[in-house]
Amino acid sequence: MRDARARLAVALDLPDRAALLAMAHGIGPEVGVLKVGLEAFVAEGPSLVREIVASGAGVFLDLKLHDIPNTVGRAAAAAAATGASIVNCHAAGGTEMMKAFGEGCRAGAAKAGRAAPKLIAVTVLTSLDGAALSAIGLAGSPREAALRLAVLARESGLDGVVCSPEEIVAIRAACGKDFLLVVPGVRPQGAAAGDQKRVAKPADAIREGADLLVVGRPITGSPDPAAAARAIVAEIASALR
Ligand code: C5P
Repeated sequence: MRDARARLAVALDLPDRAALLAMAHGIGPEVGVLKVGLEAFVAEGPSLVREIVASGAGVFLDLKLHDIPNTVGRAAAAAAATGASIVNCHAAGGTEMMKAFGEGCRAGAAKAGRAAPKLIAVTVLTSLDGAALSAIGLAGSPREAALRLAVLARESGLDGVVCSPEEIVAIRAACGKDFLLVVPGVRPQGAAAGDQKRVAKPADAIREGADLLVVGRPITGSPDPAAAARAIVAEIASALR
């Protein structure tokens, strides 16, 4: 069961610090990773991340950095110094930026006396469809673009990517078994899809090759978030047997 817990990250997309910390403390023991996103980080800053890390939970700091290499490298160093165990940038920033991201993370973590975090790239935002991609000048379908960016992330020395359930098989085949696939858009049996367009069930995503599932509202919006998290962990465990 321990292994199944490590495969679930809960997105703490909650409006204020008190609610977010209460949720973190309530479900932290049930799951491997808690995800802090841009909204919470901009509002509350690195002290929020340090507080969750100090509670013993692994933190995925989901900042999706994208800027010139020098700026991303410095921001990455500060992100890694919080003690987050996973951090990310946009693969669309290019190879030089992703390399600077990796170097910044390693340097920032070492300076703070922390282990280096896992380095993940965002491929194509799931909010972009084919028309939106061509409007910004990106060739091919979202799936083709995601695969191309995943290969670029691997060649740039990153540990893995965020991808949709539909891209797991192709990216796994192209990038190998050790490349980390972090997969949002996961919905347990009977849960509302919300604004997620392409959803998969936890056990199916794990069987297809996902390493870490990211689930938010089906857990944080449940009357009993710890029980909802345990139920998803049980679904993951069933796929690992
Ligand atoms: O509530 P829900 O389970 O839809 O939350 C999914 C989380 O994963 C959110 O924090 C969302 O921002 C994030 N995410 C996503 N799709 C991506 C990248 C991140 O849903 N492509």
